[in-house]
Amino acid sequence: MNAPPKSFHVKSFGCQMNVYDGERMAELLGAEGMVAAADAGAADLVVLNTCHIREKAAEKVYSDIGRLRRDDGSTPMIAVAGCVAQAEGAEITRRAKSVDIVVGPQAYHRLPEMVAEAAAGRRALDTDMPALSKFDALPRRRKQGPSAFLTVQEGCDKFCTYCVVPYTRGAEVSRPWDAVIDEAKALADAGAREITLLGQNVNAWTDERGRGLHDLIEAIAAMPTIARIRYTTSHPNDMADGLIAAHRDVEKLMPFLHLPVQSGSDRVLKAMNRSHDVASYLKLIDRVRAARPDIAISGDYIVGFPGETDADFEATLDAIRAVGHAQAFSFKYSPRPGTPAATMGDQVPEAVMDERLQRLQALVREQAIAFNAATIGRTTDVLVERKGKLPGQMLGKSPWLQSVLIDSAAKVGDMVEVEIVSGGPNSVQAVERVRAAA
Ligand code: 5AD
Ligand code: SF4
Repeated sequence: MNAPPKSFHVKSFGCQMNVYDGERMAELLGAEGMVAAADAGAADLVVLNTCHIREKAAEKVYSDIGRLRRDDGSTPMIAVAGCVAQAEGAEITRRAKSVDIVVGPQAYHRLPEMVAEAAAGRRALDTDMPALSKFDALPRRRKQGPSAFLTVQEGCDKFCTYCVVPYTRGAEVSRPWDAVIDEAKALADAGAREITLLGQNVNAWTDERGRGLHDLIEAIAAMPTIARIRYTTSHPNDMADGLIAAHRDVEKLMPFLHLPVQSGSDRVLKAMNRSHDVASYLKLIDRVRAARPDIAISGDYIVGFPGETDADFEATLDAIRAVGHAQAFSFKYSPRPGTPAATMGDQVPEAVMDERLQRLQALVREQAIAFNAATIGRTTDVLVERKGKLPGQMLGKSPWLQSVLIDSAAKVGDMVEVEIVSGGPNSVQAVERVRAAA
């Protein structure tokens, strides 16, 4: 028997959707009367909201669980949530006896009941995937910083051969229009100035009336206190004309697009089951740029997919040169149990992957520096998100998602006008423009 927990701590790993889920779990536990503890050490209940996308993520979870043991040998109530919970299920409680709760990403609305079960001394496991029912069971959003995440779509039907997402998050499902609009309104009422619409394939969002993501974006843009809209992550094959046009027509839609291509080799893309080639991706980028010339392009790249040759890798570097990224994420291929690529022949040696990753990241870094340098001298708005490290310094985001450092008396949540004065690979510095009094 455990005493019913009075305090909790949620630790989220991985993608922005996990950050969103972690916030929702915290709200749910808060609504049950539990209070948020400052850290895991001070909490009666610790939720590890895990990620399964790369590396030995499952192994890492077991060491994280081990670290929750306190000096006196006791452990808090432990819940493993997220994609490792989905993938490993009951194996987790078999291997880690101190785990009380295993809850998948589609079942976490049941967390309060499961906590009660665990407090009564029974282990609780739920990795069911009832599409969308969790959203109906979550409390209305009440507390919010200036920049908020809103999940509109979950799951993936694309089955790229390296990826676990279709297995851990399930099939593509779109939340209904009204649910999304209600949550956006609640976020606006709670103080959000910026909303980032989230989905594993966010641009595949649709409803029974055939509306698309751009329709949602337009409706949210009509909310007066929302100043900025973003969305992530998109798939090249779901980049509809309407969404591209929204980058031209909707002022509140920020000039930033995260659009992964993964590889610059058609042969590798085919083996990845990406169902697009490099030329069509580059053409798409041209169309987006025609609609919004200053748009910042981000992407994801995998090096060392099974069978990737030196020539394939060079083709990836060529594609990156052709795109010209503002930023991009890159990863060494990591075989995921149960995915087709994990059993393909010709796995690339670690040392080769290391070398390729370094070269790719050096190129992306050059491009990020160039992108930031090209914004020097621009006057733009910055949404202030938090205090910087130095006294008087504030940190915010430009429309192009650059991290902007300013010396400013502005408060978190203010939109300030600045001139960008210098830049590095990861951030830019700016000076605040003093607005003439009205
Ligand atoms: N190995 C390496 N990278 C991966 N990604 C997804 N699965 C794997 C894997 N098995 C990367 C892709 C994806 C991003 C979220 O993670 O680039 O776009
Ligand atoms: Fe994974 Fe591919 Fe789906 Fe993205 S599109 S979540 S990489 S399977």
